[in-house]
Amino acid sequence: MAASGGGPLNGIGFGTWAWGNQLIWGYEPQRDDAVLEATFRQALSSGLTLVDTADSYGTGRLNGRSELLLGRFTAALPAPRRAELCIASKLAPFPWRLGRRGMDRALRASQERLQGCLKRVQLHWSTARYAPWQEAALLDGLADRVQDGTVAELGVSNVGPQRLLWMHERLAKRSVRLSSVQVQFSLLAPGERSGEALVKICRERDIEVLAYSPLAFGVLSQKPGADFSTGTALRRRIVRRLLPASDGLRQEMHEIADRRSVSMVQVALNWCRAKGTTPIPGLRSPQQAQDVAAALDWTLLPEEVERLDRRRERCPVRMPANPFQSS
Ligand SMILES: NC(=O)c1ccc[n+]([C@@H]2O[C@H](COP(=O)([O-])OP(=O)(O)OC[C@H]3O[C@@H](n4cnc5c(N)ncnc54)[C@H](OP(=O)(O)O)[C@@H]3O)[C@@H](O)[C@H]2O)c1
Repeated sequence: MAASGGGPLNGIGFGTWAWGNQLIWGYEPQRDDAVLEATFRQALSSGLTLVDTADSYGTGRLNGRSELLLGRFTAALPAPRRAELCIASKLAPFPWRLGRRGMDRALRASQERLQGCLKRVQLHWSTARYAPWQEAALLDGLADRVQDGTVAELGVSNVGPQRLLWMHERLAKRSVRLSSVQVQFSLLAPGERSGEALVKICRERDIEVLAYSPLAFGVLSQKPGADFSTGTALRRRIVRRLLPASDGLRQEMHEIADRRSVSMVQVALNWCRAKGTTPIPGLRSPQQAQDVAAALDWTLLPEEVERLDRRRERCPVRMPANPFQSS
């Protein structure tokens, strides 16, 4: 991928998938909630004001937990602080959510969990590959809620260039702005060519590209030669499949990080920013929030971006692609 070139650099947000997810992230309410609140507060005071969540975040009986926690944490903030926030939640196009009003109940439930602090609603994934008829009505329904003022902004997720153009055109016909598209985007993300095309389309239409899993589940924070022995069995399996084979790429990141006296995480995030995207790394501690925000203080040189690009091209492994990602 070419460096983005020109234009102001994007910011950084953060993601909260882990805040309630037990299967991959091993969430435990009693152990984690106080640390997550401290993480949230640190992120905010470090200038990270875009927060990503979803109505499906939270395993089993903890479904909706991420939104619930965010609602609780934001309610405790003074009003001016709350006003700075952009909480963007994703609604899942489950098979039973059908028709133009199919998301209405889900949207109300998210707003309740978030205690009124929901600014942007996003369609979580594209149904184009398995139920294309479902998508148009759901998108129209969400646009209705923007037009009637129920929610301020609209975004989509897991959408490729073709589908994005179709959605953008459909919304533009009724003068509804598409604020963002969220896709997997990192030095280890699959499908680099479509990522490049998507960013170009978005730049031309003033749509923000949110880069999810920008640290490849944390793999890109690991020094070359590292093993990974913490976390749930599922996360260890995903991470270990990527670790030895991405050593060369992470060696390059490590050298850049060392020379700049920054962390490898900051290198990973600033590569995303250099490509014209806004990374939304998952945060689980105040220290991580501080480190991530420090990436806003510097940028990669074009030759550093090129070196990372070359290493990325030679890297034989990639993160798994989202099965619902459309073309
Ligand atoms: N639209 C979608 O379908 C979709 C799919 C996936 C994710 N997302 C969104 O994107 C967000 C981020 O993606 P992700 O959670 O999959 O993974 P990620 O951001 O690639 O990795 C998150 C992990 O990186 C590690 N990390 C973060 N900051 C660090 C730091 N400063 N130093 C060292 N390690 C650090 C943490 O691991 P430890 O805490 O374990 O150390 C953290 O849990 C999600 O929370 C979610 O909001 C959206």
